[in-house]
Amino acid sequence: MAFLHHYLLIFALCILYVESTDPSAQICNENSNTTTTPEITKNIDLLLTKLVQATSQTGYSASTFGLGKTKVFGLAQCRGDVPSQECSTCIQTAAKEIKTICPNRVDARLWYEYCFIRYDTKSFFGQVDTGYGMLYANVENVTDPETFNNALDALMYRVDALAAGPGSKGLGVGETKLSDFVTLYALAQCTQDLSPVSCRKCLEIANGETFCDNKKGCRVIYSSCYVRYELYPFFFPLDQKSALESSSMANYWSLTKKP
Ligand SMILES: *[C@@H]1O[C@H](CO)[C@@H](O)[C@H](O)[C@H]1NC(C)=O
Ligand SMILES: *[C@@H]1O[C@H](CO)[C@@H](O)[C@H](O)[C@H]1NC(C)=O
Repeated sequence: MAFLHHYLLIFALCILYVESTDPSAQICNENSNTTTTPEITKNIDLLLTKLVQATSQTGYSASTFGLGKTKVFGLAQCRGDVPSQECSTCIQTAAKEIKTICPNRVDARLWYEYCFIRYDTKSFFGQVDTGYGMLYANVENVTDPETFNNALDALMYRVDALAAGPGSKGLGVGETKLSDFVTLYALAQCTQDLSPVSCRKCLEIANGETFCDNKKGCRVIYSSCYVRYELYPFFFPLDQKSALESSSMANYWSLTKKP
């Protein structure tokens, strides 16, 4: 019996582990040319190495590699609350997986819960991009939409301002008590190449996604920004159990958005 119990526990942990390491979203842009040249492929490889190194140090980097027609542009960023060890692990995985997931694409983007990586043969730095998106909404509705939405709007207003504010590195987090027992947590994140105005614009569009209306939790994942709110803690500092649980996609409906 003790053995069985142990076995089940390990099994359950494995499921959580697998879910938390799967990408949250991926885009291999079909509108871009499907075949890269060997020269571009080589530049993508070298760019990815550069991005992994720099992002592991500072949590963010935007960089280019190559010249002329074979030049590639890349950006990598960890969610700003994520500790550097988790950031480094995430970005290494992302750089390895992106080429397997999007072979021969010149425009590829890959999101994990803790980090994001992207490359393109065209420059995208500083541009608000809300065209492609992946949305996850909790299958459960809130019981008192009016009270909930008022609290959510006020909290999002606060975290959006933090994210677009000076010295934030694109991150805003906050929480608000809905009752003695219920707390609402929210996070907003922009890629660090965006200006404050562009960051706000991106977050405004993300907050307006009707897919999230009256849901107990929601994630909006765009190429330029990310918004999430939940009725449980999901941003760091977090204990290991909460970190695993909050990375799970179980109990969420997803929606893929295309431009
Ligand atoms: C695809 O490649 C061709 C030839 O290099 C180029 O003329 C065309 O603009 C490219 N299309 C896109 C969508 O990038
Ligand atoms: C949540 O609300 C939507 C829209 O009003 C409704 O279609 C759906 O059935 C509700 N879901 C649950 C689990 O009650």
